[in-house]
Formats: sequence, C-alpha cells, structure tokens
Amino acid sequence: MNPSSWKEARNLFEETKRITGFSKGVTVIVAPPAIYLRELGELDRPRRVFLAAQHVHFERSGSFTGETSLPQIKEAKAVYAIIGHAERRRVGETNDDVRQKVAASLAGTVTPILCIGEGSRNPNGEHFAVVKEQLLAGFGGVAAGKITKVLVAYEPVWAIGAPEAMQPRDMHEMSIFIHKTLVEAFGAVGHRVSVLYGGAVDASNARAIFDEGEVQGFLVGRVSIDAEAFTELLRVIAE
Ligand code: PGA
Repeated sequence: MNPSSWKEARNLFEETKRITGFSKGVTVIVAPPAIYLRELGELDRPRRVFLAAQHVHFERSGSFTGETSLPQIKEAKAVYAIIGHAERRRVGETNDDVRQKVAASLAGTVTPILCIGEGSRNPNGEHFAVVKEQLLAGFGGVAAGKITKVLVAYEPVWAIGAPEAMQPRDMHEMSIFIHKTLVEAFGAVGHRVSVLYGGAVDASNARAIFDEGEVQGFLVGRVSIDAEAFTELLRVIAE
C-alpha cells in the first residue's frame, strides 16, 4: 500500500523519472499499488523506467474477487510483476502459487521478479534449504530456455524493514548458492540469471553490496518512497 495516496504516487513517479534521467546506465522498475498503474502508465517516461505490479493472479480471467490479472496489468503498461514477496507469502501465498504465477507471467510476456528469502538464520545453515526450496519451486514451471527471463530478488525476511542490510559477503555467498542451484537444475545457463538483493538498501550500503555481493540490482522498499533518499541511492548506483 505504498505510496499511500495517488498524489504521492504521481509526485514520486515524476521525481523518479527526473532522477533516472541523470542516472546513466541504471534501469528503474517502479512497482506502485495496482490502482495507480494505469494512470502512471499513461504519463510519459524515459526508456529506462518501467512499470511493475506488486502482485498478480495466475489465471488470465475468472471469479477471483480482489485479484488483478496479467492481461490487466499489461493493459495498464506494466511489463514486470513482483511475485512471492515476503509480505504476500506471510498472508498465505505458497511456493505452488509462486510457481504458477512465474509460469503465467512468462506465458503472458511479463517479466517475473521472483522473491525468495529465509525468515531467519541459525548457525546450522538451514536457510540454504529454505532458499533452495523456494527457488526451485519458483522455477518449477519454467523451461530451461526461458530461465534468464526471470529476475530473482533475494530478500532475507529479517532484513526487510530492518535497520541494517545483510553483509555484502553474505550476499556474495548467497548469490553463488543461487547460481549453483540453478546450474544444477538447468545447466550452465543458470549462471546468467540476474540476482537482485532487497532488505534495508540505501545509499550508504548499496555500493558495497553491489561491488562485493555479486548482484545486478536491488529491490528497494522504504527508500523508494523517499524522493531525497532515492535520489542519493540512484546516484551511488550510477557511479
Ligand atoms: P526495505 O523493504 O527496503 O524497506 O527494507 C524491502 C521490501 O519491501 O521488499
């Protein structure tokens, strides 16, 4: 439900478009609440700014009160969809739902941003098993030839909304693990899947996570709805 009003969404979108213009080489995917997608989609935007839905249903139509379909978000000009965000999983979205949504997105030519991430960590390293299960389930309906069309957003749930992000070296380890898991399942092409990091990203930690974490981008929450902080973040990433 962020941003919380149309006025705020429109202002943030205008700011985001403006600062993306100065951030050479950076692609920005804006994921507003579905109710704002269509009007934002009608506004002009630079080529490096895209729209995404925060949540979609896997069926193309039917009686699913309150849901939004892939054809509907496409009609509103969204070409990406966030799938399996921790906040959706918390209210009941399962690995099987996620699998169907990723497959439906690809079939509908919408790029899925598949969110995965463990709830907590302990010294036994059980989080790797959780991540592997979510990852393989998410890719369960994807043909080997299409796997590079999925963006993986690794977001440890304990870092979302937290004061601090994960350590860059831990992200590096996780990035290797994600690629290794995909290579085992799909062959060498697994190396080429893009991995994003999410969870307390801001201008102060982005550089280190980007340089050392082996990530191709970020999924940004709080900082994305603060025009000043987001400007700073884009500046760091552009550098
Ligand atoms: P945060 O949120 O950047 O505020 O931690 C991340 C997210 O919403 O996925």
